[in-house]
Amino acid sequence: MSDILAAITGVQGYVPDYILTNKELESMVDTNDEWISSRTGIKERRILKGDGLAASDMGYEMVKGLLEKTNTKPEEVELVICATITGDMIFPDTANTICDKVGINNAFGFDINAACSGFLFALTTGEQFIKSGTYKKVIVIGMDVMSSILDYTDRTTCVIFGDGGGAVMLEPNHDGFGVQDALLKGDGAGRHHLHMKAGGSLKPPSLETVTAKEHYVYQEGRPVFKSAVRGMISTTEAVMKRNNLTADDISWVIPHQANIRIISSVAEGLNFPMEKVVVNIQKYGNTTSGTLPLCLWEWENKFKKGDKILLTAFGGGFTWGTTYLTWAY
Ligand code: UT7
Repeated sequence: MSDILAAITGVQGYVPDYILTNKELESMVDTNDEWISSRTGIKERRILKGDGLAASDMGYEMVKGLLEKTNTKPEEVELVICATITGDMIFPDTANTICDKVGINNAFGFDINAACSGFLFALTTGEQFIKSGTYKKVIVIGMDVMSSILDYTDRTTCVIFGDGGGAVMLEPNHDGFGVQDALLKGDGAGRHHLHMKAGGSLKPPSLETVTAKEHYVYQEGRPVFKSAVRGMISTTEAVMKRNNLTADDISWVIPHQANIRIISSVAEGLNFPMEKVVVNIQKYGNTTSGTLPLCLWEWENKFKKGDKILLTAFGGGFTWGTTYLTWAY
C-alpha cells in the first residue's frame, strides 16, 4: 500500500453575478416563493448571462483563482479533470478549453459526465494519479451551467437548478491527511427518470427535437427523490462502517444540494445533527456537478486540519456515492 494520500490543498468556487430569485420566477412560470421554498429550500440561484460565455469561462475563474491561492504556476499542473454535463460543446471536452484559457500548457485534461455525482467521480479519478505517485498537482473541477439546458416554461425543473461550481487542487500528502475512502455506484436503469431526450446519438438534433423541447432536462421528481435519499444513506453507511466511524466522529457532512428535504432525510437517516450538515442550497439551488465544490469553498474557513468530512451525492445515471476525507490544512 502506498503511503501517499491525495489531499485537497486549495479550493476556489465561482458563481455568476446574476441572481434569479423566486420572485422573478413567479413572473416566468406558474409558481410561487412559498412552494419553491417549502418544497426545495431554494430562495435564489445564479445564472450565467452574457454573449459567448460558457462553462469554460466559469472554469477559467475557478482555476485562475485556485492557482493564485495555492501559489501554483500554470506549467506545474499536470492533469485537469472537469466534471460537468454542460460543457461548452458536446466535443471537445471543456477541461482542455479551460487549460487553454488559463495558460496551463503542460497538462492533459478530460471531462467526466456523472451528473450530480460528477465531482465525486472526478475526485476519485484524480486521487488515483496522486496516490500512485504519477502526478503531484491535479486539478479537479465540478461545475454546471444548468441554465443552458433548462426549459424556463417548465416549472417542475426550472426552479430547481442554477449555475456555478468550484475547483480543488489535489496534491500528495505523507501525513495521513486527504482522501481516505470512496464508494461510488451506478445504475443505468435510472436513466429513464432523469435525462435529456435529444442531442446525442440516440436522437440527434433536428427541427422535431427542438420543437418538442427535447434538449432540456427531463426529470420525474418523485422517483429521483426517493432513490436519492436511499442511495446517499446506503453508501454513507457503508463507508462509515468500513472505516469504523460513528456520527460523533464526523466533523462535517457535505451532501449534494438538490432539495433541502432530501438533505434533511439523509441527515436524519444517518443521525447527523443539522449543525454538522453543510447547506447552501438556498443561495445557489442545484448546480449539479458544482454543488459539492461550492460547499467546500464556502466552508473552507470553518474546516480545521484533521476534520473528518463525508461528501455524498446522487444524480442522473443514476450515479451516487460517498467520499470520506480528512482536511489537510
Ligand atoms: O440533483 C439530481 C437529482 N435530482 C433530485 O434529487 C431532485 C429530486 N426531486 C425533488 O427534489 C422533488 O421531487 C421536486 C422538487 C422536483 C418536486 O417536488 P415534489 O414535492 O416531489 O412535488 P411533485 O412533483 O410531487 O408535485 C407536487 C405538485 C404538483 O401539482 P399537483 O399535481 O399535486 O396538482 C406539481 O404540478 O406541485 C406542483 N408543482 C409546482 N407547483 C408550484 C411542481 N413544480 C411546481 C412549482 N411551483 N415550481
